[in-house]
Amino acid sequence: MLTRSFMTPESSKDLLAYTPMLHARMFIETVKFRDHHFQPTRSSLTTPANKKPDGFSSDLYLDGHPKIDRPLFVQFCANSPDELLEAARYVEPYCDAVDLNLGCPQGIARRGNYGAFLQEDWNLIYKLINKLHLNLDVPVTAKMRILESKEKTLQYAQMILSAGASVITVHGRQRDQKGHKTGLADWSALRYLRANLPPDTVIFANGNILRHGDIHRCLQATGADGVMSAEGNLYDPTIFAKPPDAESDNREYWRGRDGKGGYRMDAVFRRYIDILYEHVLEKPSPVRKPLFLPSDPLTQDTSVISSEVPEEEDERPAKKRKRDHKDLKPTSPNLLAIQPHLFHLLRPLVTKHHNVRDALGRSRAGDMAAYENILQMVEAAVKDGLLDYDADPDKYEESDLPDEIEQQANLDKEESTVATVKACKRPWWVCQPYVRPLLKEALAKGSLTMSKKDKRKLEEENILGKAKLEQGGKSEREKLDMGDGMHEEEMPKEAMVAG
Ligand SMILES: Cc1cc2nc3c(=O)[nH]c(=O)nc-3n(C[C@H](O)[C@H](O)[C@H](O)COP(=O)(O)O)c2cc1C
Repeated sequence: MLTRSFMTPESSKDLLAYTPMLHARMFIETVKFRDHHFQPTRSSLTTPANKKPDGFSSDLYLDGHPKIDRPLFVQFCANSPDELLEAARYVEPYCDAVDLNLGCPQGIARRGNYGAFLQEDWNLIYKLINKLHLNLDVPVTAKMRILESKEKTLQYAQMILSAGASVITVHGRQRDQKGHKTGLADWSALRYLRANLPPDTVIFANGNILRHGDIHRCLQATGADGVMSAEGNLYDPTIFAKPPDAESDNREYWRGRDGKGGYRMDAVFRRYIDILYEHVLEKPSPVRKPLFLPSDPLTQDTSVISSEVPEEEDERPAKKRKRDHKDLKPTSPNLLAIQPHLFHLLRPLVTKHHNVRDALGRSRAGDMAAYENILQMVEAAVKDGLLDYDADPDKYEESDLPDEIEQQANLDKEESTVATVKACKRPWWVCQPYVRPLLKEALAKGSLTMSKKDKRKLEEENILGKAKLEQGGKSEREKLDMGDGMHEEEMPKEAMVAG
């Protein structure tokens, strides 16, 4: 909804959302799991529905709501066709398609035999897709990874399509391209599919979409019908929106002297939290002043923003408050997700403003007073940043690239993110993608250390080249400029593993 809110009503119809991956067996086994992960109605989904909800029933809630959350694909992982169909039956009245995850490369997917680990069993994949194709009222689609060769990937895609998939989303990385081996997605493999599959095949391309301009580049390079963005959209929820006209009077969008710009973090934060007030908490959001612009007349702002998370106002005795705390603990996934979402959104800002980082780290799910306070801290920081930029813009343009990244410019072009970092870099108050260093860069920079076994393996694969290795490192440890373990906090939960 946040991403859609930055698009025109017309263009937002082209934005298709996917639910996170849901585990089909867990989805059919427990009401609690369904309640927690998919909320199309206010009451629980108790039986697999077999009819469409009529009109705007008052029981309709968030997921797949015709007014606010369509088009929507619901994604499952599964390895039993019957379980997958039963799970899909619950959701089909509230979505536009059911998607099968064939991309998840994580250990948990290996252990549970789903996601990309079904690649070894094409027969099972066929049965899973075909079961939905023959029995569901909505289309079935699939998200796959590329395989070790273009020819094999083509055969794989042909099998998936022959089973009845209406759309294939192709992540241009192989299954083992994860963690330090993530690297770049191979768009040429997608172009090969486009050229060799029937022209009416609907293909969505996934991988390497960091910012708005990449969408067009990817469509051109791959010939795909659409692009999917996951991480890029988390760091910059405005990624799919066309930037506003340069002449428009838009307080939410910042532009530098060189014309480069992006949406301000305080603006996106406000929209995010206001969506939560309106749709989740269902109460009015606080009245907000217009966002600050340096051209505004200067007023004396006497308000004090605390970097402490405010205590909730509650005059009941401490004992009673303690007893009730469990009941008050919000389990709404929408509230639980606030902290990790904000860490993504505010990444460059919290790297500089540790008071914001610390307050966010201490925040508890559903404590809206704390998030309001953090919003004020962010607004104050952005105000300082904007004034500082106006006073000395050179400071921001000169410090374009940190030295250590400059040093990497002599790495091979394909093994360097220097140009990408340069193109994406904005002042810290502007939403921007996180450009993950490639393996060679991370090693050279010393932000990644590897076990002896991994080093040997990589040397064998001749990847290491001239990169320096830290001596004696026992385990793989990626700092990636976070330095504060934030990324670790964002590990997906068991049933919703990243694909
Ligand atoms: C936090 C996170 C959660 C993800 N969850 C899913 C998921 O539930 N299902 C899925 O198919 N892929 C999932 N992915 C993988 C993405 O869909 C995508 O394939 C991958 O991140 C590469 O695309 P990107 O460069 O746009 O992020 C997830 C990725 C991230 C970063």
